[in-house]
Amino acid sequence: MAVLDVLIYPNSALRVEASEIIDWDGGLKKLITDMWETMYTSKGVGLAAPQVGVSKRLIVIEYEGERHVVINPRIIEEEGFERADEGCLSFPGIYESVERPAKIHVIYRDETGSQRDEVIDGFLARVFAHEIDHLSGRLFIDRLSPLKKSFIRQKMERQANGRS
Ligand code: NI
Repeated sequence: MAVLDVLIYPNSALRVEASEIIDWDGGLKKLITDMWETMYTSKGVGLAAPQVGVSKRLIVIEYEGERHVVINPRIIEEEGFERADEGCLSFPGIYESVERPAKIHVIYRDETGSQRDEVIDGFLARVFAHEIDHLSGRLFIDRLSPLKKSFIRQKMERQANGRS
């Protein structure tokens, strides 16, 4: 097991469209184990592979004691809207209110390759939608007002310059 580095915005790898997973091999198993380890260490509820620099359509989520390994997901239906505070491991210390669908119908494959078909609502739907956005290079700040987004972008860029 290994704790991977979580990429911090504005790292450009966070903007890349990730590719479908086609091999359910030992490499995938190891990546999933490392992503759990990384997510627990970072105290997140969800982590998408692009956040650890792996451009694949893979997500891990743990919510209310239940673990979800989500591979090649697709949201096929959305219903309603809900607004709540959200954070992201790639934006340490930043929390903003984001509007998301209240309910989603999602299809995906799990770690064994089995097809899953689920209707999810509440906070778990928010986590799924947030993480699925990562697979297309979309970040939660893209769903804020242009003013708020630019404020956060500038703040994060200043911190990045301070690190280098
Ligand atoms: Ni995130």
